[in-house]
Amino acid sequence: MSARLAVYPGSFDPIHNGHLAIVERCLPMFDELVIAVLRNEEKRPLFSVEERVETIRELLAGNGRVRVESFSGLLVDFVERVGAVAIVRGLRALSDFEYEFQMALMNRRLNPRVETVFMMPKEDYSYLSSRLVKEVVALGGDVSGLVPARVLDLLRERAPFR
Ligand code: PNS
Repeated sequence: MSARLAVYPGSFDPIHNGHLAIVERCLPMFDELVIAVLRNEEKRPLFSVEERVETIRELLAGNGRVRVESFSGLLVDFVERVGAVAIVRGLRALSDFEYEFQMALMNRRLNPRVETVFMMPKEDYSYLSSRLVKEVVALGGDVSGLVPARVLDLLRERAPFR
């Protein structure tokens, strides 16, 4: 039987514990997971794509079933290229639903073979977003426990930012 591969796409600027909890949750469902970091020239990210890919690789180095890549262009084309059967997205709250619903249906229209699978994050992280992490750090707040220690260091090194 061929390996069932899923793609977990996102900006991951930076990756936080909510993202990592989703990775953990989908590993029993798939043989392999590709974390796909979007290259988006329009957004002004805090961390470069290379920094984000490198950081996530370091964090998940012990896990042979997870690999980290960057992509540009259509997500469904990337999914097709790596031979994945599903796109994994975290669904935090009602506010995520509309955007995620639109993306899932557009992706299905673009490639009906690809299914989007939504995972609920751990309750502790249901309010967590990369945007809020950056905002809190920029304003001098504490996000320890919400991001891995390595990401906390990187955020502190990069501060002050905004
Ligand atoms: O972490 P994010 O920013 O919510 O992730 C959004 C992402 C990367 C999943 C989305 O922007 C995406 O898939 N971009 C690639 C371009 C694309 O395929 N657009 C059409 C989506 S329906």
